[in-house]
Amino acid sequence: MIADVLPELAWMPRTHAGRPAAVLPKSYSRGGVSPGTLRFSERTIRQVAAERGPRMSAFGMCCKALVRETWLRHVRRIDFRTATNDKACAAYEAMTVAEFADINRKQAWANWRTIPRNLSGRMPATPVRAVDLCCGIGESTAVLACYAPRGSQILGLEYNRRFVDDARRARYTTIDGAPAAVTFRAQSVLDEFRDVRGARVASSSIDLINACGAVGCHFAPADALRLARECARVLKPEGLALLDSGYDGLDAAALDEIFTTHGFTIVGRAVSCPLDRRAQLCLKRNSL
Ligand SMILES: C[S@@+](CC[C@H](N)C(=O)[O-])C[C@H]1O[C@@H](n2cnc3c(N)ncnc32)[C@H](O)[C@@H]1O
Repeated sequence: MIADVLPELAWMPRTHAGRPAAVLPKSYSRGGVSPGTLRFSERTIRQVAAERGPRMSAFGMCCKALVRETWLRHVRRIDFRTATNDKACAAYEAMTVAEFADINRKQAWANWRTIPRNLSGRMPATPVRAVDLCCGIGESTAVLACYAPRGSQILGLEYNRRFVDDARRARYTTIDGAPAAVTFRAQSVLDEFRDVRGARVASSSIDLINACGAVGCHFAPADALRLARECARVLKPEGLALLDSGYDGLDAAALDEIFTTHGFTIVGRAVSCPLDRRAQLCLKRNSL
């Protein structure tokens, strides 16, 4: 059981006002710790990651992913490393859930580190409404459920119906082991966000949006533009969007530019480890 929820902030806030994302340090935090937010120390983050994240060694994980990806690419003829979103969705559709779980393990490992680093000092201490975009089989959703305060509601949106079915089978708990309220819907996040009953997510109703292994991998600038508009619509003023950058899809500079021209300000950036080249950006919806 993890009891150490609100220790001192080990992730030191630093200021880099005015510098574009591409030249910012790999991990940083702008603006200090907001009052009324939860803080997660590096010690807590590492402990939770060890307890709830993938158990395999980094070397074992990389080897398994490499073998599986080579098999998918050369034997099954499935290439999921594409920024053409339709092709990426089709590639994931062609995989079994077990194949996906193997290639996604490194992502799952990273999620347990980047998400809490971005949320520390920014996650409201009161229940939130959160949306996990492109949630796959729920591995990023499990991290949100863990770090969100009790009473929060989390909606996972994912294109692939089989992944959604698998995500629904998992049990989601808060950091102190209480059941978390998590629902899933199969849809493209390039469409209007809808809840589990199919109702349009209300404008200015969401506190937190998260994406891992998606925007930086499978989205072209035109897709990110649609996503930015929808995120701006559903987020409350001052709401947060944690969005992954990458090198197959959108890099940090492009993501920053698109979102800052759609009413967001970049306030942070986190990586899972010093070798991680795919930072997750933390963007705040500007006040109206
Ligand atoms: C690398 S996986 C990441 C899954 C999950 N976020 C995680 O961190 O474990 C990328 C996921 O994005 C989904 N995806 C890609 N484009 C999408 C879209 N337009 N709408 C919804 N899901 C999408 C894929 O089906 C796949 O499950």
